[in-house]
Amino acid sequence: MAKEIGLFEAMYTQRALRYIKPDPIPDELVRKVLDAGIRAPNGGNTQRWSFLVIKDPETKKWIAERYAMTPVPEHPPAVDRRMARTMARNDAAALHLSQHLHEVPVLILACVQHDGSPGDISRGASIYPAVQNMLLAARGLGLASVLTTRPRRGFEKEIKELLGIPDNVDTAALLPLGYPAEGVQYGPTRRRPVEEVTYGEKWGQAWAPTDTDS
Ligand SMILES: Cc1cc2nc3c(=O)[nH]c(=O)nc-3n(C[C@H](O)[C@H](O)[C@H](O)COP(=O)(O)O)c2cc1C
Repeated sequence: MAKEIGLFEAMYTQRALRYIKPDPIPDELVRKVLDAGIRAPNGGNTQRWSFLVIKDPETKKWIAERYAMTPVPEHPPAVDRRMARTMARNDAAALHLSQHLHEVPVLILACVQHDGSPGDISRGASIYPAVQNMLLAARGLGLASVLTTRPRRGFEKEIKELLGIPDNVDTAALLPLGYPAEGVQYGPTRRRPVEEVTYGEKWGQAWAPTDTDS
């Protein structure tokens, strides 16, 4: 059992882990991850989410084949060598996952029912908080995972047909779940700093905390 970690440690170290052992994981852990997911905020607490837990080797193989064939969007060029290195590492890890997805013990497909919202963002707002809770729970339980949206981008119609997902339900994210491969480390996640992505009062105006010494 992984040692308990604090909330902030989980948030700061919940990195995308794409090298995953094929060893099975207990259903009890899968349930804990799902149980964290269903605690998330969602529109009107209508809880229009559903989660498919996929372990069947044939289904995983079917998904893995299409996942690997889904084109990856181009990312903007790196601004420096460090960023270029990180991007190259991520690309290699994403490629590895796409070639080994069928070996991951559990795939969780997070789905959301249409609620009449005008757009994808409103609908997504009622499922991605649950997905993030699941990623954090996985981190807390010592499991590896990563948020991917390739089924939605690449083979939504086909996967819905295969798994019997109703017309009024969208797939939102596919989460591979398993133990991290040997030598794979959690976090720290690297992000642009708060001051760079936050404005005070009006767009473009700098914001900085005024009630701290630092
Ligand atoms: C909308 C979305 C789609 C993503 N799709 C993929 C994917 O297809 N394959 C993959 O390996 N990672 C995918 N990711 C994971 C991101 O690459 C990852 O969250 C990001 O690079 C940050 O990684 P880090 O937390 O390790 O720093 C996706 C993330 C998001 C939010």
